[in-house]
Amino acid sequence: MIPSAGTPIQLTDFLSGVVSSCRSPHGTFCELLRTEIGRSHCFLANSATALIYLALKAFSEFSGRREVILPAYTAPSLVLPIQKAGLVPRLCDISLETFLLDIDQLPDCLTNQTLAILAVHSYGIPLAMREILKLARQNGSYVIEDAAVAHGSRLYGKPVGAYGDVSVISLNRGKNMTTFTGGIALTDNAQLSLAIARAIAELPRASLRLRLKIALNLMALGVVVRPWIYTLARPLLLKYRSLSLYTNFESFQYTRFQAGIGYALLKKRQGIFARRMENGQYLREALGDISRIRLPAIPNDAEPAFNQFPILVETAELRNRLLERIIDDARVEATVLYPKAVHHCYNLGIPKALYPNANDFASRVLLLPTHPFINPKRLEKVVEVIRKFLP
Ligand SMILES: Cc1ncc(COP(=O)(O)O)c(C=O)c1O
Repeated sequence: MIPSAGTPIQLTDFLSGVVSSCRSPHGTFCELLRTEIGRSHCFLANSATALIYLALKAFSEFSGRREVILPAYTAPSLVLPIQKAGLVPRLCDISLETFLLDIDQLPDCLTNQTLAILAVHSYGIPLAMREILKLARQNGSYVIEDAAVAHGSRLYGKPVGAYGDVSVISLNRGKNMTTFTGGIALTDNAQLSLAIARAIAELPRASLRLRLKIALNLMALGVVVRPWIYTLARPLLLKYRSLSLYTNFESFQYTRFQAGIGYALLKKRQGIFARRMENGQYLREALGDISRIRLPAIPNDAEPAFNQFPILVETAELRNRLLERIIDDARVEATVLYPKAVHHCYNLGIPKALYPNANDFASRVLLLPTHPFINPKRLEKVVEVIRKFLP
């Protein structure tokens, strides 16, 4: 069985992680990230969620606006940093063409209370940031570029993460590059940078127990994502998999050990991201002519390092049956990830029938793995199973 997510972490990465964690790993890791993505300031913390929260707090130092727009179908827990910052989440429907926030509907969602737009590059597919930034500037709103699952994707010839007033990337499990937990924030804005730096300095350090737990889990993760080990461990892992909805999140500092590993992994990033691009490209070409599924429309100026590859199946019932078939016959961990739209997950006082595209999408989307451990033969098998099921 092939897991749905994985980053090839080798023993040598641990060794170079340990060596660099003895120096100044946060500094060197951030330096590499700043150079790679082309930003002036970089910050690390325990999660992208925590950094979104700190970014929103920083925006609030400069604006009294109270609302944050996010796509109606995305990681539902994104409402938590918004609410924790004392702000109100406002949804904007998604597009059934791009599978991302619907830019055509965004102008109707913007108000004179919109503090920020959370521009999410879902599945690693870049959202058209030029249009988002233009609308945000006209409205006097900030943009958080959420590249949590899009590390390594490129847009307009630059890496994603290069565009937001603040951009975030996740290093959590299942992301394009992982240090078990963690998040990166990037900005060119000196004032925001100062505010975020101050807030990070005030975050508690992870306890010794937690640092040990993270280090052990990180090592275990490097092993368990290998397909043959995953096959053996899967029953146990499924038992411990948390399906519950988050109601809170913690914020603390990123550990030295993780920064050391992050630095080691980032140095070999091209291989990791290139495999995700190739796997996604293969699926696009191989599935493109099947009329009963829809693939995301990808702009010409975008190069997605797919975190997973989304397809939209003709009906919900077919989606559910196809999901089982792929898992059983192709033996890869296809998933749905978020079974419902954001306003169905948390009580935001929004009628459930609103945001019809997000509701429809939630019932029909299916995600295929694209990570570096999946080999071309296995992807061919996935395509074969889909073709047989949807002739
Ligand atoms: C689009 C998106 N943004 C933000 C996050 C939060 O990232 P983290 O787990 O590092 O808090 C996630 C997590 O899956 C996500 O999918």
